[in-house]
Order: sequence, then structure tokens, then C-alpha cells
Amino acid sequence: MDKLIIKGGGPLSGEIRISGSKNSALPILAATMLSETPIQIGNLPHLNDITTMLALLRSMGLAVTLNEKMSVEIDANTITEYTAPYELVKTMRASILVLGPMLARYGRANVSFPGGCAIGSRPVDIHLRGLEAMGAVIEVDEGYIRARSHGRLKGAHIFMDTVTVGATENLLMAAVLAEGETVLENAARELEVVDLAHCLCAMGAHIEGIGTDKLVIQGVKSLKGCEYHIMPDRIETGTFLTAAAATRGHVKLKDTHPGILESVLIKLEEAGAHISFGDNWISLDMKGNRPKAVSLKTAPYPAFPTDMQAQFTAMNAVSEGTGTVVETIFENRLIQIHELNRMGANIRLEGNTAIVTGVERLKAAPVMATDLRASASLVIAGLVADGDTLVDRIYHIDRGYECIEEKLQLLGVNIRRVPS
Ligand code: UD1
Repeated sequence: MDKLIIKGGGPLSGEIRISGSKNSALPILAATMLSETPIQIGNLPHLNDITTMLALLRSMGLAVTLNEKMSVEIDANTITEYTAPYELVKTMRASILVLGPMLARYGRANVSFPGGCAIGSRPVDIHLRGLEAMGAVIEVDEGYIRARSHGRLKGAHIFMDTVTVGATENLLMAAVLAEGETVLENAARELEVVDLAHCLCAMGAHIEGIGTDKLVIQGVKSLKGCEYHIMPDRIETGTFLTAAAATRGHVKLKDTHPGILESVLIKLEEAGAHISFGDNWISLDMKGNRPKAVSLKTAPYPAFPTDMQAQFTAMNAVSEGTGTVVETIFENRLIQIHELNRMGANIRLEGNTAIVTGVERLKAAPVMATDLRASASLVIAGLVADGDTLVDRIYHIDRGYECIEEKLQLLGVNIRRVPS
């Protein structure tokens, strides 16, 4: 297993480019299955999760042609298998996103039941209940969700009792080809859901209420290909900005924009960052000052994203004062604090709340990544620690951050990958 060695040092400084959004790209790649003609998707990030999704589509027989600029052409007409196997689903839970589109287009889908993961139990009951309301017959057999539809799915009025990104996406992808009207109430408003909805509309879908918590979909008989460009990754953007703030640095991020992470920018300004921006860039300047600890609570969009919580906890660990971080989305997503405390942080855990009292600097230690965003927080901690921090199990990072060490090197960091 590869490891990262980070020599803690001075402020981040320089310019880098932000990649396309992983969490938009995954559902949009699943949605390509809905198209009757080939479809082109551009600005894909070069990440293990994207490779896994493309491998999944290929394993089902879809024709996938990737060009060197990370745009892909997908022709779903060559499908031969209707199964997302355990081997792929176990490496990436987002494989569940093929369930809705496969069922809607082909009337059948078998998807390995995704288990829990380090950050929580992560059930898929809302996905399944919604598809059943649209007429699907679903059974769970030998660890597989086996879904069938006799004829087209039927439009339905669905109230989701928890705001869930994945279920909103799965049900939206099913509804666009269902017969009649589907209403999705209490839908997730995350920008990745919006990106998916825009892509579906470009394919010929009829969706109203995009960006709100009520999506109204008029099903159509068929969808066609289009060319679609994935939005910038707001979590990668936020991660580099937070790393810069923690190190008292000054960075400019290109190919991204401020409208996608308002709640995060507000907190960074509260921490003392000076933010400026244009249409396709954001810059952050700490003017050499130590950040001030901030308090925050994660919640569905447009509130503060759970995917940025670990990075802010790491920044708070070296900030002035005490910040309280409340995690409300996943039950076990504060686990990285034990590793941060091993590096000299002063963080107390009370239920779903981390009380973080900043120290001047952390101390390097060997640490272990447990999930994607937790590993980003350990990298940030390594940047502000005295000595060489060794981050193990970085396959988690490679799932979600394109070329993280190259990008950090461009910002002046002494970081290297040690192959296993
Ligand atoms: C997506 C993101 C992930 C992010 C999360 C929350 C992708 C690929 N991943 O994950 O990075 O952290 O949104 O913003 O886009 N739930 C149920 N039943 C269900 C489905 C979800 O109870 O059927 C619960 C979950 O356990 C969790 C909450 O709903 O507590 C939100 O989860 P959800 O929004 O579905 O997360 P994902 O789509 O898996």
C-alpha cells in the first residue's frame, strides 16, 4: 500500500487547477446508461473511483472510450450484463447509482448490496422504497439487490424522510424514463444533484424544480446523447483552501468558482482568510496570520458539507482559540481526531461533537487514513507538523483527490509518495 511522507513546513503558496467533481461524475457516468445514442462526458477527474465506475460500466458490456483529456464517450447499446458485482461495489459504494438507471432503461438490475463503511452504516432503504413506489419488484438475495420492472416504471409521489444525495440521484435517474409524473419531495439540493439534473435535461429529460427540495419529473420514452462538462469539485476546492488557511498561506485555485462553496468560504473568512475571486478562480490569503478556530455544524446543502468537516477539524487543531465541530450526517465521521491527537492536537470528543482547542504546531507521527476526507485532514495535519508525517493507507486519498502530491508540490510542499 502506498504511503505519503510530508515534511511539515511553511505556508502553501502558488497556483493550481481544480479537477472535475468526483461526486458529479459518478452519477452522471451511471446516467449514461439511459441514453439511446452515444454520449460524451468531459472534465472527468483522474481518480480511482472514476476508474472503478468506468470498469463497472465496461463489465456490463457498455462501450467506453476514454481519451487522454479525461473525456469519455459511452455507448450503452452494447450492454450484455445487468449486474454490478460485489468485487466492484465493495470498493465503491457509489456503484449503487447504477440501480435506478439500469432498472428504468432495461427493466432489470442486480446490484451487490453495499455494506457499511468506516464513516457509518449508510443504508440504502430510501433508494429501494422509492423504486418500489415506482412499481419495481425488489428482493435481496445472496447479498444482491435484484430489481425488476414489468414494462416501464410508473411515476409516483415520493417523500424521502431523510435528505439523501444518493437516493435523490437514483430516483431522479429512474423517474426520467418512467411513465407519467414523479414528484421527489425532500430531495437533496447538493450541487452534484443539480449537475446530474442538468445533464439529464441535456439528454432530453423534463425536470422542474432543479436546485430545490421538490423535483417534478415528466417521464419521457427515451433519452439521447449529448456533450456534458462536469462541474468543478467543490470539496477539492475547499480542501486546498483549508490547507492554505491552516498553513497561513496564499493560494490561487483555477477552474473553480466561489458560487459552489459559499458555506465553506464564510467559515474560512471567519477564520481570518482574505478571499478574492473571479468567474473561474478563487484565491485565499492569510497574510501570514494564524487562523482563528471556528465552530460549525454539518448539514445537507446549502449548509456546511460533511465532506469538509475533517479538514476544518485539522485546521482548528492549529488555530487560535477553541472551535466546536458538530457532525450530523454520518454517525462515525469524527474518527480522525484520534490520529490528530496522536500528533499533539487537543481535541475532545463528546458524542457527535469535537471540541478542538488549537495548539501552535502539531508533531509528526505515522498515521493511518480511515476514509477519504479523514485522510485529507491527516495531510493537512502533516503540513503543520514539525518533522516528517507518514500517512498510511492513502488509497483512500486516491479515490477522491487527483494528483494530490503533485498539486501540493506545486504549492511548495515537500511531499512524496512511497510505493509499497
Ligand atoms: C454522498 C456523497 C458523500 C457525502 C454524502 C453527504 C457521493 C458519491 N457521495 O454520499 O461524499 O458525504 O453524500 O453529503 O456523492 N441514508 C439513509 N437511507 C438511505 C440513504 C441514505 O438513511 O437509503 C442516510 C445516510 O446513512 C446518511 C444520510 O442519509 O446518514 C445522507 O447520506 P447520503 O446523502 O445518501 O450520502 P451518499 O449519497 O451515500
